[in-house]
Amino acid sequence: MKFTMFGELGALNRQGMLLLLLAGILSLSRAANPCCSNPCQNRGICTTVGYQGYECDCTRTGFYGENCTTPEFWTWLRLTLKPTPNTVHYILTHYPRVWNLVNQIPFVRNSIMRYVLTSRAHLIESPPTYNSNYNYKSWEAYANVSYYTRTLPPTPEDCPTPMGVVGKKTLPDPKYLVETFLMRKKFIPDPQRTNMMFAFFAQHFTHQFFKTDQSRGPAFTTGLAHGVDLSHVYGETLDRQHKLRLFTDGKLKFQVNNGEVYPPTVQEAPVEMTYPPHVPEHLKFAVGQEVFGLVPGLMMYATIWLREHNRVCDVLKVEHPDWDDEQLFQTTRLILIGETIKIVIEDYVQHLSGYHFKLKFDPELLFNQQFQYSNRIASEFNTLYHWHPLMPDSFKIEDKDYSYREFLFNNSVLLEHGISNMVDSFSRQIAGRVAGGRNMNPALLKVAITTIEHTRQMRYKSLNEYRKRFALKPYESFEDLTGEKEMSAELKELYGDIDAIEMYPGLMIEKPRPGAIFGETMVELGAPFSLKGLMGNPICSPEYWKPSTFGGKVGFDIVNTATLKTLVCNNVKGQCPIVSFSVPESVPSKSGSISPKSSNSGLDSVNPQGHALLKEQSTEL
Ligand code: HEM
Ligand SMILES: *[C@@H]1O[C@H](CO)[C@@H](O)[C@H](O)[C@H]1NC(C)=O
Ligand SMILES: *[C@@H]1O[C@H](CO)[C@@H](O)[C@H](O)[C@H]1NC(C)=O
Ligand SMILES: *[C@@H]1O[C@H](CO)[C@@H](O)[C@H](O)[C@H]1NC(C)=O
Repeated sequence: MKFTMFGELGALNRQGMLLLLLAGILSLSRAANPCCSNPCQNRGICTTVGYQGYECDCTRTGFYGENCTTPEFWTWLRLTLKPTPNTVHYILTHYPRVWNLVNQIPFVRNSIMRYVLTSRAHLIESPPTYNSNYNYKSWEAYANVSYYTRTLPPTPEDCPTPMGVVGKKTLPDPKYLVETFLMRKKFIPDPQRTNMMFAFFAQHFTHQFFKTDQSRGPAFTTGLAHGVDLSHVYGETLDRQHKLRLFTDGKLKFQVNNGEVYPPTVQEAPVEMTYPPHVPEHLKFAVGQEVFGLVPGLMMYATIWLREHNRVCDVLKVEHPDWDDEQLFQTTRLILIGETIKIVIEDYVQHLSGYHFKLKFDPELLFNQQFQYSNRIASEFNTLYHWHPLMPDSFKIEDKDYSYREFLFNNSVLLEHGISNMVDSFSRQIAGRVAGGRNMNPALLKVAITTIEHTRQMRYKSLNEYRKRFALKPYESFEDLTGEKEMSAELKELYGDIDAIEMYPGLMIEKPRPGAIFGETMVELGAPFSLKGLMGNPICSPEYWKPSTFGGKVGFDIVNTATLKTLVCNNVKGQCPIVSFSVPESVPSKSGSISPKSSNSGLDSVNPQGHALLKEQSTEL
């Protein structure tokens, strides 16, 4: 057969060949890649067939037909009975008396928590599939962990418009978008009373796995563990870790100031840190994450976790006087990873959710379920986590009020106030609402512009494609998205088609749920990534999740009783401050407006040797 075909080809005369070639080129340049229109629904996979055709692979989607649109019977039944995410959210955030009861019946609480975990985690591909350079499955995309993974493959290069076939040929100017729809006019406080203690925890916690590789570009990460590894405490590499370690009793290096423990200086622990040149040597603190000198709020958490590490080392040393430095260090690290996951689920996500249902960190809930103990950080997860509207117009600590310029890269703030007072003040100061638009301090606009540019470079699909991917109904109009008329009218003008609005601007301007910090899309996209990342950690697997992993009962108990409050209170001298992720009801929740002195971020004075992401900021702000 093969030979005959070649024979025939060989028999074609030159003119024939030329014509064929020409026809090929013409059809190439005319017909758009048919997958550009995203024809395959319900997570069906589009593959081109020749130059004109496409095929949807509907395998195990529960749907069939040319575009995977016809549900199988059981799929149809499930979809018919399934309440919408907004209904589920409503139920979980109302009826406190019913939930109070449910929370006290372990069997019911466990079943609901198991359902929350599995229903969310099943939306995440595991093992991971695409990345920003591969919109089809490939070994390179699977095996090269320097890439963030992609939940939706990038839009093919040869599509008529950036969003495929819908919308305009050129997308709106990022600077214009940000200044028009994201810039704060007047501070909008978060109705869930989220505070600065939460905001800095979010930034600190996520920057252990959101570490874009500035040298390679937005598609790449330097966080090769792709999850909660506490590399922001211990460093990404063994070399960095060793420079931060004391090599005595498992502890990390530290310095003492006013009788309290702080991170060592870069002279004492010679690791790369990003600081502008004007920062004096004694204020260049060295920690696991290179960029944590940026905000005293980050350095506050770095200090708390440093103290916690050394405290747990002391506890373990009492239990295991025979253990060497290495074993004390390694076991303490596992305990701190466990504490982190416990606090993130039971304090942090609990707060964000607004649920009256009491979330539970219990890996055993998944032991009889299908669940992969692995994780790969998705680029889209990073993008949606750009919660910069949380940031206020100035930072209030005790009786001081810091502008961005005074606050950023200023570790002197820690020494002046001490950890306890910072926690107290951050717990009292309310953060900004994230969704709803127009709530980003001018000092941070450049970050938002860069975010949009990056998502375009990585050829992100539209907000509505992401909504469909996460089983949400696509928005039907711009008013449907924003819930108002003014912004939606201008957005329609700019984007032309609701199916063409981009993911990140969409998330930022989406109408918030009633009384909530976020809109529907942020939660329904974010929660699956988050829970998969937390529960997919190796310490949650059956072979790890046992006391011996954590140095015995004492260590296991530290993990299982960890709270934000004990984390802080075990590590500050004297009386414990207010410690919370929301402004206590007893504290008035108002905050000042933009002060003229806050318009310059202070990001402009960064060391040119420093982190590229900050360097880029420095030229324009
Ligand atoms: C005053 C406070 C803050 C400042 C000055 C700041 C500044 C920045 C800058 C300059 C970048 C790099 C942008 C780029 O060029 O790619 C960035 C990235 C980011 N920020 Fe913030 N930010 C602040 C607070 C926050 C908070 C509260 C969050 C909440 C989670 C957050 C989440 C992120 C994320 C997820 C990234 C991407 C990190 C990466 O890909 O490596 N930021 N921020
Ligand atoms: C499948 O999608 C294509 C492209 O969007 C459309 O033209 C076609 O009519 C659809 N087929 C069916 C059976 O709905
Ligand atoms: C991952 O891909 C990037 C870009 O192609 C390449 O530079 C890098 O060497 C790859 N990493 C590994 C470990 O192969
Ligand atoms: C840094 O903070 C200190 C102490 O709170 C303050 O006195 C100082 O003015 C700040 N530095 C800058 C450059 O604003």
